[in-house]
Amino acid sequence: MTGPRMTDPLPIVRADNATLAHGSRVVLAEASFTLVPGEIVGLLGPNGAGKSTLFRALLGLIAPRAGSITTLGRPARTGRPGISYLPQQEPNGQFLSAWDVVAAAHAGNRPGLPWRNRAARAAIDAALAETGAAGFAQRPFASLSGGERQRVLLAQALAGQPRLLLLDEPLTSLDPAAQAETVGLLSAIRARLGCTILVSSHEISPLLPVMDRVLYLARGQAALGPVDRVITGPVLSGLYGAPVEVLRAGGRIFVLPGEAPAALHQAV
Ligand SMILES: Nc1ncnc2c1ncn2[C@@H]1O[C@H](COP(=O)(O)OP(=O)(O)OP(=O)(O)O)[C@@H](O)[C@H]1O
Ligand SMILES: [Mg+2]
Repeated sequence: MTGPRMTDPLPIVRADNATLAHGSRVVLAEASFTLVPGEIVGLLGPNGAGKSTLFRALLGLIAPRAGSITTLGRPARTGRPGISYLPQQEPNGQFLSAWDVVAAAHAGNRPGLPWRNRAARAAIDAALAETGAAGFAQRPFASLSGGERQRVLLAQALAGQPRLLLLDEPLTSLDPAAQAETVGLLSAIRARLGCTILVSSHEISPLLPVMDRVLYLARGQAALGPVDRVITGPVLSGLYGAPVEVLRAGGRIFVLPGEAPAALHQAV
């Protein structure tokens, strides 16, 4: 048998026939998968596939319509210690400061809520100071440079001491060098804390150096496994319900859904 063991007595995340929906729109249909301690899993899928929705479900911010989701061995709910979360930075949502990002991680997450008691504030300030991020803690996270964001990420991990670290698109808008540094930082955080990291991304390639497995979402379906088994034409074509081509070149992987080649043809 290869890959992480599925029989761990305490899975970090377990989705059991979980259905997630916004109103009448089903985002994930009867998905079952398990994340084990200490693995780094890339959460991939096209826009609107449900990556951010899954994070919100893991945080207990939305309840499964059917089935169940457990985190750290118990039904997902808000305010659970041991889970850190970096929300996706919305293009217009420049309001989340670096301090807020670390604070959101510290006590199990309702981003933006003023739940900070004195001890919590001190722990957040200490983590920011330890990573050299105190000087820009009040600036919007989205306005920080790649290197500055890394320090905030590290502070976040330190402040939360998480067993499960949820990062929603931490690589977006970073240049390739900063992406690589951030990905390296994920390894460092995992090595230091031994935590499970679920990290979403639009691109697979930057995560390849650290990803143990990939959780790919499309059309309400989920596929979890090693990159070489999931990121293939047949598996992704099945998920998308349409032909998908997978190209590997120069250590990078390109997923080309059916419509992409057509667009290319139109361009020539
Ligand atoms: N609060 C909401 N109310 C209604 N529909 C929503 C809500 N949040 C998300 N959706 C819809 O659910 C689907 C999944 O959205 P989600 O944000 O989880 O996708 P995503 O994979 O994170 O996309 P992206 O890559 O663009 O970040 C989309 O169709 C989205 O429009
Ligand atoms: Mg998203």
